[in-house]
Amino acid sequence: MTKIKTPLAEKLGLDLPIFGFSHSPEVTAEITKSGGMGVYGIAHDPPDQVPAKLAYIRELLGDRPIAIDIMMPKGMPENETLESVRAVLPQGHVNFVDGLVDQFQVPPAETKTFFNSILRTPSYFEGQLQALLASDVEVVAFGVGLTPDAVSALKERGKTVGALIGNLHHFEAFRHLDLDFIVAQGTEAGGHTGTIGTMVIVPQIVQMAGDLPVLAAGGIGHGAQIAGALAMGAQGVWLGTAWLSTKEHSLGDHAISDKLRQKLFAAGSGDTAITKGSSGKPQRQIRSAWTEAWVAPNAPAPLKMPYQHALVGDLLTAIDEHQVEPMLHIPAGQGVAWTTGLKSVADVMADLRDQTLVGLRRAGAYALD
Ligand SMILES: Cc1cc2nc3c(=O)[nH]c(=O)nc-3n(C[C@H](O)[C@H](O)[C@H](O)COP(=O)(O)O)c2cc1C
Repeated sequence: MTKIKTPLAEKLGLDLPIFGFSHSPEVTAEITKSGGMGVYGIAHDPPDQVPAKLAYIRELLGDRPIAIDIMMPKGMPENETLESVRAVLPQGHVNFVDGLVDQFQVPPAETKTFFNSILRTPSYFEGQLQALLASDVEVVAFGVGLTPDAVSALKERGKTVGALIGNLHHFEAFRHLDLDFIVAQGTEAGGHTGTIGTMVIVPQIVQMAGDLPVLAAGGIGHGAQIAGALAMGAQGVWLGTAWLSTKEHSLGDHAISDKLRQKLFAAGSGDTAITKGSSGKPQRQIRSAWTEAWVAPNAPAPLKMPYQHALVGDLLTAIDEHQVEPMLHIPAGQGVAWTTGLKSVADVMADLRDQTLVGLRRAGAYALD
């Protein structure tokens, strides 16, 4: 099998420079077993549950490296609880959300999920970080936000550390830290996202980063784009949306339902939208009655993170629990266009590798002396 070896892939022992973000342990393990680097997102795991989750991933991966993504957004309230925040939510916002419940006839949520039982606070993130510091995970990436102390504590324990950025200011803020890689994420990405296109931000960050390896993210779902990213100087790519409709994503706590998978298969590159309605920060999702509701003329401006979450957590849980079709959604990027049928993670990886090789050879053939 032809391998694609960039210096970062070589350093981490990967056959393919493809990093795959997912909230599913099963998916991330398969990405790593297929020659890339699966990155498990712990955003939804309360600190006391992180050790058990890591132990499960270790069981799936044996002695292959574990990579974890953690969010540490700035400005979260220290001395609040979900209850205290819920008690003072603006009445107009509460009425708007109640109106959606009525309009779409959403039954109450019965389950407890991250969305309706957790408030993002500094101690939540600090607890997750401590669990990572005490663990044997090899790679840690920071999603939304980081602290310099967290980076140095992880580095002191010998971990490989990276960070996602969505604009040049983030890079300026992080460049003096001792990071091992940067993920330059374009606006096409699923999840929290910025405004600069992948084709623009990647070569800019590569130029600014010097020897620091850069991964390209945002809208990537085909190997031709991976070849393009490598040609722009990236040492690999970081994909999130591509795994959502894989067979392995129908397993475990974060299973994608059949209804949602059908929406993903049907969606084209124009069928996503950015909304602050879910978390309070701009997040690209598959377009739905949920994203549309937040741009309707009667919609209030979403609250900031984590208050928006406290406002909508029960409704988000209920939409998922009762599979309320029009409002069913998930973060997804413009690359959702390439998810058109059920495949295993290994098949997605093999397709990406083959397409990348075609792209690299195609472009290489144009260079004549
Ligand atoms: C369903 C979903 C959930 C995500 N959750 C997180 C998260 O918790 N932390 C994070 O750093 N990035 C998260 N992301 C963003 C990914 O890390 C990645 O940057 C993005 O998916 C890349 O763009 P793509 O979706 O176009 O491949 C998420 C993406 C998706 C699709």
